Amino acid sequence: MTWVEYLRVQYGLLKRLVAGRDVLSDSERSVVTEFHKLYYEKANTGGTWQDTYWMGCKILKCPLDVWVYQEILHETKPDIVIETGTYNGGSASYMASIMDILGTGQIVTVDITAHGGRPVHPRIHYLNGPSTAPGIVSQVKTLAAGKTVMVILDSDHSRDNVFRELEIYAPMVSKGHYLIVEDSNVNGHPTGLDHGPGPMEAINDFLVGNPGFELDSRREKFFMTFNPRGYWRRV
Ligand SMILES: C[S@@+](CC[C@H](N)C(=O)[O-])C[C@H]1O[C@@H](n2cnc3c(N)ncnc32)[C@H](O)[C@@H]1O
Repeated sequence: MTWVEYLRVQYGLLKRLVAGRDVLSDSERSVVTEFHKLYYEKANTGGTWQDTYWMGCKILKCPLDVWVYQEILHETKPDIVIETGTYNGGSASYMASIMDILGTGQIVTVDITAHGGRPVHPRIHYLNGPSTAPGIVSQVKTLAAGKTVMVILDSDHSRDNVFRELEIYAPMVSKGHYLIVEDSNVNGHPTGLDHGPGPMEAINDFLVGNPGFELDSRREKFFMTFNPRGYWRRV
Protein backbone atom coordinates (compact mmCIF):
# COMPACT_ATOMS: atom_id res chain seq x y z
CA MET A 1 0.00 0.00 0.00
CA THR A 2 1.40 3.41 -0.91
CA TRP A 3 1.40 6.30 1.55
CA VAL A 4 -1.31 8.02 -0.46
CA GLU A 5 -3.53 4.92 -0.34
CA TYR A 6 -2.82 4.50 3.36
CA LEU A 7 -3.79 8.10 4.08
CA ARG A 8 -6.94 7.73 1.99
CA VAL A 9 -8.00 4.67 4.03
CA GLN A 10 -7.26 6.45 7.31
CA TYR A 11 -9.18 9.51 6.15
CA GLY A 12 -12.15 7.28 5.24
CA LEU A 13 -12.09 5.66 8.69
CA LEU A 14 -11.90 9.06 10.37
CA LYS A 15 -14.82 10.31 8.29
CA ARG A 16 -16.87 7.27 9.32
CA LEU A 17 -16.10 7.91 12.96
CA VAL A 18 -17.07 11.55 12.72
CA ALA A 19 -20.09 11.12 10.50
CA GLY A 20 -21.50 8.09 12.32
CA ARG A 21 -23.99 6.52 9.96
CA ASP A 22 -23.46 8.43 6.78
CA VAL A 23 -20.50 6.47 5.59
CA LEU A 24 -21.59 6.29 1.99
CA SER A 25 -19.75 7.87 -0.87
CA ASP A 26 -21.81 9.97 -3.28
CA SER A 27 -22.10 7.10 -5.75
CA GLU A 28 -23.10 4.62 -3.04
CA ARG A 29 -25.69 7.09 -1.74
CA SER A 30 -27.09 7.41 -5.24
CA VAL A 31 -27.48 3.60 -5.52
CA VAL A 32 -29.50 3.63 -2.30
CA THR A 33 -31.61 6.57 -3.47
CA GLU A 34 -32.38 4.98 -6.83
CA PHE A 35 -33.27 1.66 -5.19
CA HIS A 36 -35.45 3.50 -2.67
CA LYS A 37 -37.35 5.24 -5.48
CA LEU A 38 -37.72 1.98 -7.42
CA TYR A 39 -38.92 0.10 -4.35
CA TYR A 40 -41.33 2.82 -3.23
CA GLU A 41 -42.73 3.82 -6.58
CA LYS A 42 -43.26 0.28 -7.87
CA ALA A 43 -45.94 0.13 -5.18
CA ASN A 44 -48.11 2.15 -7.58
CA THR A 45 -48.24 -0.92 -9.80
CA GLY A 46 -49.32 -3.08 -6.85
CA GLY A 47 -45.86 -4.21 -5.82
CA THR A 48 -43.35 -3.91 -3.00
CA TRP A 49 -44.48 -2.28 0.26
CA GLN A 50 -48.18 -2.33 -0.60
CA ASP A 51 -47.87 -6.06 -1.14
CA THR A 52 -46.14 -6.99 2.12
CA TYR A 53 -47.72 -9.12 4.86
CA TRP A 54 -47.09 -10.17 8.42
CA MET A 55 -48.74 -13.56 8.99
CA GLY A 56 -51.24 -12.84 6.24
CA CYS A 57 -52.07 -9.30 7.36
CA LYS A 58 -51.04 -6.38 5.17
CA ILE A 59 -48.35 -4.22 6.75
CA LEU A 60 -47.46 -0.93 5.09
CA LYS A 61 -43.78 -0.94 5.93
CA CYS A 62 -40.39 -1.63 4.50
CA PRO A 63 -39.10 -4.93 5.95
CA LEU A 64 -35.79 -3.25 6.79
CA ASP A 65 -37.64 -0.87 9.12
CA VAL A 66 -39.65 -3.71 10.60
CA TRP A 67 -36.40 -5.44 11.56
CA VAL A 68 -35.26 -2.24 13.27
CA TYR A 69 -38.57 -2.20 15.19
CA GLN A 70 -37.78 -5.70 16.47
CA GLU A 71 -34.34 -4.54 17.63
CA ILE A 72 -35.78 -1.51 19.41
CA LEU A 73 -38.50 -3.55 21.10
CA HIS A 74 -35.97 -6.09 22.27
CA GLU A 75 -33.58 -3.43 23.58
CA THR A 76 -36.08 -1.16 25.28
CA LYS A 77 -39.06 -3.42 26.11
CA PRO A 78 -41.65 -0.65 26.48
CA ASP A 79 -44.74 -1.50 28.52
CA ILE A 80 -46.85 0.11 25.84
CA VAL A 81 -46.49 1.19 22.23
CA ILE A 82 -48.83 3.93 21.08
CA GLU A 83 -49.33 3.81 17.32
CA THR A 84 -51.28 6.36 15.32
CA GLY A 85 -52.43 4.86 12.02
CA THR A 86 -53.53 1.24 12.31
CA TYR A 87 -54.75 0.49 8.78
CA ASN A 88 -55.30 -3.31 8.66
CA GLY A 89 -53.41 -3.86 11.90
CA GLY A 90 -50.32 -5.37 10.24
CA SER A 91 -47.77 -3.36 12.20
CA ALA A 92 -49.70 -3.84 15.46
CA SER A 93 -49.89 -7.58 14.82
CA TYR A 94 -46.18 -7.73 14.03
CA MET A 95 -45.27 -5.92 17.26
CA ALA A 96 -47.66 -8.14 19.23
CA SER A 97 -45.83 -11.21 17.89
CA ILE A 98 -42.47 -9.77 18.95
CA MET A 99 -43.93 -8.90 22.35
CA ASP A 100 -45.21 -12.47 22.70
CA ILE A 101 -41.62 -13.66 22.26
CA LEU A 102 -40.37 -11.04 24.72
CA GLY A 103 -43.16 -11.86 27.14
CA THR A 104 -44.05 -8.21 27.72
CA GLY A 105 -45.77 -5.25 26.08
CA GLN A 106 -49.10 -3.89 24.86
CA ILE A 107 -50.08 -1.84 21.82
CA VAL A 108 -52.65 0.93 21.67
CA THR A 109 -53.32 1.75 18.05
CA VAL A 110 -55.55 4.56 16.77
CA ASP A 111 -57.20 4.99 13.38
CA ILE A 112 -59.78 7.37 12.03
CA THR A 113 -61.31 4.51 10.02
CA ALA A 114 -62.32 1.17 11.50
CA HIS A 115 -60.84 -1.01 8.76
CA GLY A 116 -62.44 -4.46 8.95
CA GLY A 117 -60.83 -7.84 9.53
CA ARG A 118 -58.08 -6.72 11.85
CA PRO A 119 -56.27 -9.37 13.86
CA VAL A 120 -57.60 -9.95 17.34
CA HIS A 121 -54.78 -10.27 19.87
CA PRO A 122 -54.74 -9.82 23.64
CA ARG A 123 -51.83 -7.36 23.39
CA ILE A 124 -53.58 -5.06 20.86
CA HIS A 125 -56.06 -2.40 21.89
CA TYR A 126 -57.77 -0.65 18.95
CA LEU A 127 -59.17 2.88 19.25
CA ASN A 128 -61.29 4.46 16.51
CA GLY A 129 -61.13 8.20 15.86
CA PRO A 130 -58.76 10.98 14.82
CA SER A 131 -55.45 10.66 16.65
CA THR A 132 -55.53 14.30 17.72
CA ALA A 133 -59.13 14.37 18.99
CA PRO A 134 -59.29 15.16 22.74
CA GLY A 135 -61.46 12.09 23.48
CA ILE A 136 -58.97 9.74 21.84
CA VAL A 137 -55.97 11.45 23.46
CA SER A 138 -57.55 11.13 26.88
CA GLN A 139 -58.23 7.38 26.34
CA VAL A 140 -54.62 6.89 25.24
CA LYS A 141 -53.34 8.76 28.30
CA THR A 142 -55.45 6.61 30.61
CA LEU A 143 -54.15 3.41 29.02
CA ALA A 144 -50.55 4.65 29.17
CA ALA A 145 -50.62 6.02 32.72
CA GLY A 146 -47.70 4.77 34.81
CA LYS A 147 -46.24 2.74 31.92
CA THR A 148 -43.03 3.06 29.91
CA VAL A 149 -44.11 4.34 26.52
CA MET A 150 -42.86 4.21 22.94
CA VAL A 151 -44.70 6.15 20.21
CA ILE A 152 -45.04 5.55 16.47
CA LEU A 153 -46.67 8.21 14.28
CA ASP A 154 -48.05 6.62 11.11
CA SER A 155 -51.43 8.24 10.37
CA ASP A 156 -52.08 11.27 8.16
CA HIS A 157 -48.64 12.18 6.84
CA SER A 158 -49.27 15.87 6.19
CA ARG A 159 -46.79 18.17 7.94
CA ASP A 160 -49.47 19.89 10.02
CA ASN A 161 -51.04 16.67 11.28
CA VAL A 162 -47.67 15.14 12.17
CA PHE A 163 -46.65 18.38 13.93
CA ARG A 164 -49.86 18.31 15.98
CA GLU A 165 -49.33 14.62 16.78
CA LEU A 166 -45.79 15.46 17.90
CA GLU A 167 -47.12 18.14 20.23
CA ILE A 168 -49.54 15.65 21.77
CA TYR A 169 -47.63 12.37 21.76
CA ALA A 170 -43.94 13.29 22.06
CA PRO A 171 -44.34 14.26 25.75
CA MET A 172 -45.77 10.79 26.44
CA VAL A 173 -42.56 9.00 25.38
CA SER A 174 -40.57 7.72 28.35
CA LYS A 175 -36.91 8.53 28.90
CA GLY A 176 -34.69 6.11 26.96
CA HIS A 177 -37.61 5.05 24.76
CA TYR A 178 -38.32 5.77 21.12
CA LEU A 179 -40.46 8.11 19.09
CA ILE A 180 -40.66 6.96 15.47
CA VAL A 181 -41.97 9.31 12.81
CA GLU A 182 -42.96 7.17 9.85
CA ASP A 183 -42.78 7.93 6.14
CA SER A 184 -40.48 10.93 6.29
CA ASN A 185 -39.28 9.70 2.90
CA VAL A 186 -42.09 11.52 1.06
CA ASN A 187 -41.98 15.03 -0.38
CA GLY A 188 -38.73 14.25 -2.14
CA HIS A 189 -36.80 12.59 0.72
CA PRO A 190 -36.32 10.94 -1.74
CA THR A 191 -39.78 9.73 -2.88
CA GLY A 192 -43.31 11.10 -3.25
CA LEU A 193 -42.34 14.36 -4.96
CA ASP A 194 -45.95 15.51 -5.23
CA HIS A 195 -46.80 14.82 -1.56
CA GLY A 196 -46.27 18.33 -0.20
CA PRO A 197 -44.84 19.08 3.26
CA GLY A 198 -44.96 15.93 5.34
CA PRO A 199 -43.28 14.12 8.25
CA MET A 200 -39.76 15.33 7.44
CA GLU A 201 -40.90 18.95 7.61
CA ALA A 202 -42.66 18.27 10.92
CA ILE A 203 -39.47 16.61 12.22
CA ASN A 204 -37.45 19.65 11.22
CA ASP A 205 -39.91 22.01 12.90
CA PHE A 206 -40.50 20.05 16.10
CA LEU A 207 -37.67 17.63 16.84
CA VAL A 208 -34.53 19.15 15.38
CA GLY A 209 -33.01 21.22 18.20
CA ASN A 210 -35.54 19.88 20.72
CA PRO A 211 -33.50 19.17 23.86
CA GLY A 212 -35.86 16.36 24.88
CA PHE A 213 -34.98 14.13 21.95
CA GLU A 214 -31.89 12.77 20.25
CA LEU A 215 -31.82 11.53 16.66
CA ASP A 216 -30.67 7.91 16.57
CA SER A 217 -29.23 7.62 13.09
CA ARG A 218 -27.82 4.14 13.90
CA ARG A 219 -31.36 2.96 13.19
CA GLU A 220 -30.75 3.86 9.54
CA LYS A 221 -27.92 1.32 9.34
CA PHE A 222 -29.58 -0.65 6.55
CA PHE A 223 -29.20 2.51 4.41
CA MET A 224 -32.71 2.41 2.98
CA THR A 225 -35.46 3.41 5.38
CA PHE A 226 -38.94 4.81 4.88
CA ASN A 227 -38.20 6.89 8.00
CA PRO A 228 -35.09 8.96 7.26
CA ARG A 229 -34.29 11.05 10.37
CA GLY A 230 -37.37 9.41 11.86
CA TYR A 231 -35.89 7.46 14.81
CA TRP A 232 -35.67 9.61 17.96
CA ARG A 233 -34.82 8.67 21.53
CA ARG A 234 -36.14 10.55 24.54
CA VAL A 235 -33.27 11.85 26.65
C1 LIG B 1 -49.96 4.35 6.57
S1 LIG B 1 -51.48 3.74 7.16
C2 LIG B 1 -50.98 2.90 8.65
C3 LIG B 1 -50.20 1.67 8.33
C4 LIG B 1 -49.97 0.71 9.48
N1 LIG B 1 -49.37 1.37 10.63
C5 LIG B 1 -49.05 -0.37 8.99
O1 LIG B 1 -47.81 -0.22 9.11
O2 LIG B 1 -49.53 -1.36 8.43
C6 LIG B 1 -52.23 5.20 7.71
C7 LIG B 1 -53.56 5.03 8.44
O3 LIG B 1 -53.80 6.26 9.10
C8 LIG B 1 -55.20 6.47 9.15
N2 LIG B 1 -55.44 7.90 9.41
C9 LIG B 1 -55.46 8.93 8.52
N3 LIG B 1 -55.69 10.08 9.15
C10 LIG B 1 -55.80 9.79 10.47
C11 LIG B 1 -56.04 10.56 11.64
N4 LIG B 1 -56.20 11.88 11.59
N5 LIG B 1 -56.10 9.92 12.83
C12 LIG B 1 -55.93 8.57 12.91
N6 LIG B 1 -55.73 7.80 11.83
C13 LIG B 1 -55.65 8.39 10.64
C14 LIG B 1 -55.72 5.91 7.84
O4 LIG B 1 -57.08 5.53 7.97
C15 LIG B 1 -54.77 4.74 7.58
O5 LIG B 1 -55.36 3.52 7.99
